[in-house]
This record gives sequence, C-alpha cells and structure tokens, in this order.
Amino acid sequence: MTTKTTRVVSGIQPTGGLHLGNLLGAILRWVRMQDETECLYFLADLHSLSEYMDPAERRSSVREMAAALIASGIDPERSVLFPQSAVPAHAELCWILNGTARMGWLNRMTQWKDKAGKNREGASVALFDYPVLQAADILLYQATHVPVGEDQKQHIELTRDIALKFNADFSTDLFVVPEPYIGGGTAARVMSLRDGRSKMSKSDPSDMSRINLTDSDEDIAQKIRKAKTDPEPLPDSADALDGRPEAQNLVGIYAAINDESVDQVLGRFAGQGFGTFKPALADALVALIAPIRSRLDELRRDPAELDRILADGAARAAAIGAPVLVKAKSVVGLTD
Ligand code: TYM
Repeated sequence: MTTKTTRVVSGIQPTGGLHLGNLLGAILRWVRMQDETECLYFLADLHSLSEYMDPAERRSSVREMAAALIASGIDPERSVLFPQSAVPAHAELCWILNGTARMGWLNRMTQWKDKAGKNREGASVALFDYPVLQAADILLYQATHVPVGEDQKQHIELTRDIALKFNADFSTDLFVVPEPYIGGGTAARVMSLRDGRSKMSKSDPSDMSRINLTDSDEDIAQKIRKAKTDPEPLPDSADALDGRPEAQNLVGIYAAINDESVDQVLGRFAGQGFGTFKPALADALVALIAPIRSRLDELRRDPAELDRILADGAARAAAIGAPVLVKAKSVVGLTD
C-alpha cells in the first residue's frame, strides 16, 4: 500500500471484550496499518443497538473496548479513535443510503440470516439494516481499505454495491469503492476452541470456546489444555490438515501469532502429538496477551483520559466526514 491515496477505516462492536479472533483477524492488522497510512477506527455502538443490551453496560463497554484497542497497539495520536455515535454523520448517511440499498441485497446477508435465525419477524429493523449503516461508516470517510476478518467480507462487498449504485443513480463519483483487506491464511477466521467448525465469537455461551484479552495466564493455559483436538499426530503439510478443523485452527493460531506459515509451523511439529504442541501454543498466547492485559489494566484506571481521547477522535472524524455528507445531501437533492 502506498501513502496519501489510501485511507483505512474499520470498526468493532463494543459488546463483550476483545477476543483472540478479533485480535488476530483484525486488530493486529489495524495496528500495522497505522505505519502505512491514515487510519480511522471506531467503536460501533450504533450497530450494537441491533440487539438489546443493558444501557449502563453499553456505555462502559465503549470505554472498555477503546482501552483494549489502545492496549493492543492502536495509537490514538496517529489514528483517529472514536465512538460511532459521537459522529452523527454516520446515521445521517445511513438514511441516505437506505434509499439506494435493496431489500433483496440485505436479505442475502449471511450475518442477518444467522443472527435472525428462524425468528425474522421478531428481529429488530436495525439488525436487518445493519450492513447499510456499515456502508455509511466506510463511505463517509472515502475509505480505500477496510481491514476485517473473513466474516465481514460480505458486508464490504455490499458496501461496494451500494457505492456503485449510488454513484451510477446520481451520476457522481462521490463514493470511493473500498477494498476488503482480509488477513491471509488462517487468522482471517479463528474458530471456537470447542468446535473447529464455528467461529470464535463473543456471543458463544461457553467461555471455554474463546481466549479473551482479560484471561489470566492460567486461564489461557487451561483453555488450550481443554481445547478440542483429535488423536492423530500433526502432519508435515497444511493440506494434510484438511478434515481436521480443530487441529487446523490451533496450528493456524500458532502460525498467526508467530507470523509464520502453517507449513513452517508443521515443519517443526510434524509427527508430534497435541501433548507437545498445546504447551507451545499456550506459551505463545501468553507471550502475546499478558503484556496487552497489563496495559489494559493501567488504561482502565483513567476513564476521564479515555473519554478525552474519544472526544478528540470524534472531533477529528467529524471534520473528515463532514464534506462527504454535505456533498451526498446535495447530490440527492436535499440541499442545493
Ligand atoms: P465485530 O465486532 O464482530 O468484530 C470486529 C473484527 O473482528 C473480526 N473477527 C474475527 N476475525 C477472525 N476470526 C474470528 N473468529 C473473528 N471474530 C471477529 C471481524 O471480522 C471484525 O473485523 N460489523 C462489524 C463492525 C463494523 C465494521 C464497520 C467493520 C461496523 N461498521 C465498518 C468494518 C467497517 C462487526 O460486528 O465486527
């Protein structure tokens, strides 16, 4: 990526804490991208309205998630870090884009299908409209790259469709068509420690299914010890892990942490069982997470400073987004 012509935008829902899937799938890449270009990162508190959450918890989760991002390496001086709801232009642009997005497009979103399940009639309108707000988040800042995990790819593709249709319908080139930026290999999709076929997620009722940033070293070691595996030794190539989702996931996590390929990892562990591999993985995880956890403990002690950082970020984000919203309003004929 080259500088100047690129702009990175991404968000995370402030529900529950950060887990290893977020960290490897998205956040560590957010951190690296700060060295390359201008980055805006936000806490998607408006998106969190799509499901009921205790209001006091929502408020504290925004600070907690901001602290977790800073602890993970997001530098609020270099990057713009803010709560989505503090920049009303997100919601305003969402409404404008609601005129462009099609019901059929939203109906095909797998996240909508998964989350609404059989109870579509009882799902919130916000859950259905969720991807349009996500499109507004991205298009407001004319983002060129959106670093996300694999599960968000479809939403970024929808954002592209909305941008293209809007530009065509209103004969404008206002919206930049963004590229999803999905981490290579296994980190793009970190799976549950209890079931290698479902993704690691904060909504999984079993805490043993995920590694949280707040887990102690002992918690991490125990979760890895108890992680589901199979009785076979590790093979010598990535292809041979096909059909072994749990093994694939654990080796993938190890590779992502060490910034190695799965084949490189297997080069060292081929022929060995999980009795050897799991302690090595637990050590690697502790080395990654323990320093983040202790920074997080520090940051939590100063909520006023976090609020200051977020207010500063919101003011900077609002200034970047304002001209695009002004133009969008005039393009659709709301203003001259
Ligand atoms: P959210 O809050 O579910 O997740 C934040 C980021 O973490 C990634 N991720 C994963 N990656 C790999 N393996 C996993 N198991 C895993 N779980 C989560 C997600 O892909 C995401 O990148 N809709 C978004 C938030 C959002 C957004 C946006 C993102 C709102 N507006 C605009 C980008 C641009 C979400 O719910 O992410």
